[in-house]
Amino acid sequence: MDLDVGNALAAVAEPGVPRDALERLDDRVAAAHERIERGVANGEFGYASLNLPETADTAAVETAADRIGDVDHVILVGIGGSALGAATLADALAGPDAAELHVLDNVDPAAVERTLDRIDLASAAVNVVSQSGTTAETLANFLVVRDAMADAGVDWTDRTVVTTGDAGNLRDLADAHDLPSVSVPDGVPGRFSVLSTVGLLPAALLGVDTDGLLAGASAAREKLGPSLFDSPAYAYGALAYALDVRGASMDVMMPYAEGLETFAEWFAQLWAESLGKDGLGQTPVRALGATDQHSQLQLYRAGPHDKLVTFVGVDDRPDVPIPSADLEGLDYLSGASLGGLLDAELDATEASLAAAGVPNLRVQLDAVDAESVGELLFSMEAACVLAGELYGVETFDQPAVEWGKEAARGLLRGDRTLDEGDSLEVE
Ligand code: PA5
Repeated sequence: MDLDVGNALAAVAEPGVPRDALERLDDRVAAAHERIERGVANGEFGYASLNLPETADTAAVETAADRIGDVDHVILVGIGGSALGAATLADALAGPDAAELHVLDNVDPAAVERTLDRIDLASAAVNVVSQSGTTAETLANFLVVRDAMADAGVDWTDRTVVTTGDAGNLRDLADAHDLPSVSVPDGVPGRFSVLSTVGLLPAALLGVDTDGLLAGASAAREKLGPSLFDSPAYAYGALAYALDVRGASMDVMMPYAEGLETFAEWFAQLWAESLGKDGLGQTPVRALGATDQHSQLQLYRAGPHDKLVTFVGVDDRPDVPIPSADLEGLDYLSGASLGGLLDAELDATEASLAAAGVPNLRVQLDAVDAESVGELLFSMEAACVLAGELYGVETFDQPAVEWGKEAARGLLRGDRTLDEGDSLEVE
């Protein structure tokens, strides 16, 4: 993975980061790196995520995947960090013959019903994932799925693997029904868990090369060091932070690869839930090239300069030549390929933003394959941890999310009410 920061510097962009400011920021990166390495070495909460390339329990993943065997459908019941990593891996890396992944995260009854109606449950496995084991949406959806399986005459206890922590309702359910389970490792918050059992088990069920993923992540881990000039991950985190404090309060994540569309969603959670604290944080926005060139780009180029646009480009793409049109005027397409056109769209868009002084960064991947995706995901996690140190926020907690979870449970239990100001109070 390479990172090009040229279009984010003050020489071309407004806001942009002056070279000397970057040099000064590098001292803070060195101090942050020291703090991060200490946390990683001690396995501290959150920092332990950056150990996953070495510590992920691949044996447990393999055993659980083997036990399930071949299925046509994998129903992933989980939400937030317990779903987005798996969805990202599936969309980026599952091959054409892989089982289909169905993510039940939301509790919209129409969507859940529609999903269950179109799955042959006799050929489905369920991976129910909740780190806390107490998330209402996940537990509710699991109860619905297991009933649907029972109604279809399927032994759901034989087809379910639980991914959870040591305690909680889900752990109790797993114990009560003797369900096979894998553990969420200690010290790994949901949104940092894609390279743990949480993301790796569904990936393995879809035949994704999990070793390649971890190898890519390991390569990115090796590159972390005391200077942003030597580490693309830290350079990304430092630049995004430096641009935010200069006015680029939004970060538009715009991959030019459909397989990475869900990655932008994963990134949005990582960035928002980790850094959105104490009145600080950069708002992540999801976009997809070239599709969103035809909708949002007008704003990005000509609207307020309050955005950083992050492009993700890909070197190697499948070769789909564009057939000749036998039409004058379409000569420029002749001999080109869809990938070549997509790359040209990216280059042109990047140049157009640079010409307008809109700060942008380019992340360039070798390919959308297991190694590159592992490297990308790990790098963005490291970037986020670094940015959290620079902002001085508690990167690994999510009090606003927990507040909402507990409040919703309280409303259902009937021991909480909404007052007129829409705030919640315990009765
Ligand atoms: O990143 C996080 O911690 C959250 O987004 C959680 O992943 C999400 O709320 C789901 O929590 P749990 O895995 O406990 O069900």
